[in-house]
Amino acid sequence: MGVVDTPASQAANRAGAFPRLRYMGSKYRLIPHLAAVFTELAGRTALDAFSGSGVVSYLFKALGYRVTANDFLTFPSVIAQATVVNQDTTLAPGDVERICGPAADYAPPRDDNCYIKRYHFLEGLSVYWRGQQVMENTQTRKLAKRYTPFSYTRTATNALRRTFRQFSESAIVLSYSSNAVPDAAAIEALLREVKDDVDVRLVDHTYTFGTHASAHRRAASEYLFIAR
Ligand SMILES: C[S@@+](CC[C@H](N)C(=O)[O-])C[C@H]1O[C@@H](n2cnc3c(N)ncnc32)[C@H](O)[C@@H]1O
Repeated sequence: MGVVDTPASQAANRAGAFPRLRYMGSKYRLIPHLAAVFTELAGRTALDAFSGSGVVSYLFKALGYRVTANDFLTFPSVIAQATVVNQDTTLAPGDVERICGPAADYAPPRDDNCYIKRYHFLEGLSVYWRGQQVMENTQTRKLAKRYTPFSYTRTATNALRRTFRQFSESAIVLSYSSNAVPDAAAIEALLREVKDDVDVRLVDHTYTFGTHASAHRRAASEYLFIAR
């Protein structure tokens, strides 16, 4: 039996050609599932609230959505400018290979889920270190950690609650690792505070943790919450 060619599968294939950045927590592998959900929602505009590698924003674009990419770090916006906004400049395959090829091993062994610690060089480069608080006593001139309430068990629940409230008039799609805190039941309850219809789908997925030599792939499922 042949594979059915749908608008969702065409957009997923296009997004599959997005440069595969080893971005922590990237939803790259979920693209076919997200393409199906976004097609089902049949929206026209989207906010990619945590854009990271930009692959989800790119998928929205491929599906014909008008997308706004947002991230609290600056370098993801540079990536989104180059890969999603840009319509004219194409890099040669060799350039893409060089940019996305094997990385120098700078990832710190501890506090590994901190984006600024992991990607301090890219973040500094994206603003040419202007206005950044550089930690002069570190060998690699790291940047000071930036606070985000989403990174701490104590504050994540309320940060999610505020975010869901803010977007209560829109469909909300949240992709979430099964081993994350707060757990799936808590996320569903938070969404039900603002939405009547909350669909929870479980997707088998392997999460990438770490780019360094001891990096491992942890088997974790991913929940897709679709609230409308
Ligand atoms: C799991 S990653 C996003 C992955 C992205 N969807 C992808 O597929 O590549 C989470 C992102 O959230 C960003 N982030 C953390 N706290 C944030 C905040 N308060 N506001 C906006 N972005 C935030 C981080 O910088 C990081 O890029």
